[in-house]
Amino acid sequence: MGIIAPRGTKDIFPEDTVKWQYLENLTKKIFSSYNYKEIRTPIFEETALFQRGIGETTDIVEKEMYTFEDKGGRSITLRPEGTASVVRAFLENKIYGQAQPTKYFYIGSMFRYERPQAGRYREFHQLGAEVLGADNPAIDAEIISLGIHLLEELGLKDLELHLNSVGCPKCRKVYREKLMEYFKPYLEDLCSDCQDRYERNPLRILDCKADRDKEFMSTAPKIYEELCEECETHFANVKKHLDLLGIDYILDANLVRGLDYYTKTAFEVIYKGLGAQDTIFGGGRYDGLAQEVGGKDIPGIGFAMGMERILLTIEEQGIELPIDDSIDLFITTIGERAEEEAFKYLAKLRKADLKVEMDYLGRSVKSQMKTADRNNANYSIILGEDELDKGVATIRNMKSGEQVEIKLENLVEEMTKRID
Ligand code: HAM
Repeated sequence: MGIIAPRGTKDIFPEDTVKWQYLENLTKKIFSSYNYKEIRTPIFEETALFQRGIGETTDIVEKEMYTFEDKGGRSITLRPEGTASVVRAFLENKIYGQAQPTKYFYIGSMFRYERPQAGRYREFHQLGAEVLGADNPAIDAEIISLGIHLLEELGLKDLELHLNSVGCPKCRKVYREKLMEYFKPYLEDLCSDCQDRYERNPLRILDCKADRDKEFMSTAPKIYEELCEECETHFANVKKHLDLLGIDYILDANLVRGLDYYTKTAFEVIYKGLGAQDTIFGGGRYDGLAQEVGGKDIPGIGFAMGMERILLTIEEQGIELPIDDSIDLFITTIGERAEEEAFKYLAKLRKADLKVEMDYLGRSVKSQMKTADRNNANYSIILGEDELDKGVATIRNMKSGEQVEIKLENLVEEMTKRID
């Protein structure tokens, strides 16, 4: 075989692209009803942005970044996620000088050097939303409800919202010590990764796949029981606002997320039917990220969804998206003169916003009819010498079989009437 696509990447062909487009269009529609506007940031950034933003001790920064030196000797990284870039763009362009909050959404490719498996790729796509400049708990509930709204509108079922508060640096410091104290007698029982995490990032022990079912995990101190007063009040208000919207959640003290920038609210929406990679979206508050990246104290919250995982869930749950990939008319021709006439009609019909196609390969009438079927044509006409001489043609409704003779000069008008 010749050259093949890099491991962990995928080509998307038209029969699937229509699903992606459907998802993207629905996202734009729903997100705009919550007044989120689209932002597009570069696909690569200065490496330091992610090192500082996501955190030096995270798996993403330690193992998974596509980092290279460009020809100018700069260290560049393909974005592994969107939040750090959005915050950088917000700060760099002084958007904080405008009326706040600022609500953005984005759709695009992200890159992580992970071991590919079902639902996990090296180039994957996220759609995400971020709110900057507001720390009101109502915004936390809004962002969660926005994500769930989109998934429900797609028809997804059996979703679980897991909710936690990871506190602020103040209460996390106290909690961290408490946690280290708790795990100390079990150090030997932890997996080797977690023994390593013990000093550097003990909270990550809580969501370790290898250790999470061990007995001592269930009695570990819960962060949401150790919050400072401010974080506790905030968390209570987030829960109150979710209740106001009738959104159910599962309190999950082991939800710590894989990125270091989170403060207070953290959440994930899970569909268990997906197997090992079952998180459809994750997010939370990141009130310290702007400070880390640009020295400004600006609160933020957001989420990102794996688009491949949404589409996998749609497939898994047998949901038929209302996608129409039909064409309006297929013109079958007999002979060279008909082909030339049809070619002119095609141009006129397309300019009238109709979706039309014909055969260019000089095939038999029978195989042209098959092509019309393959293209999901709603109507077809046959043009031959007879039709051209008489100036008439028969429009056939491919579904009902109904046929109507029309004057050829009225073809555009007649077709427009049928499609509207
Ligand atoms: P994340 O949890 O790293 O968060 O990723 C969010 C979602 O992206 C995951 O729940 C998953 O659906 C999808 N995802 C992640 N890695 C892969 C992969 N290798 N292959 C396929 N899908 C994947 C973030 O990225 C944060 N920026 C979310 C956020 C926004 N937090 C605040 N604002």
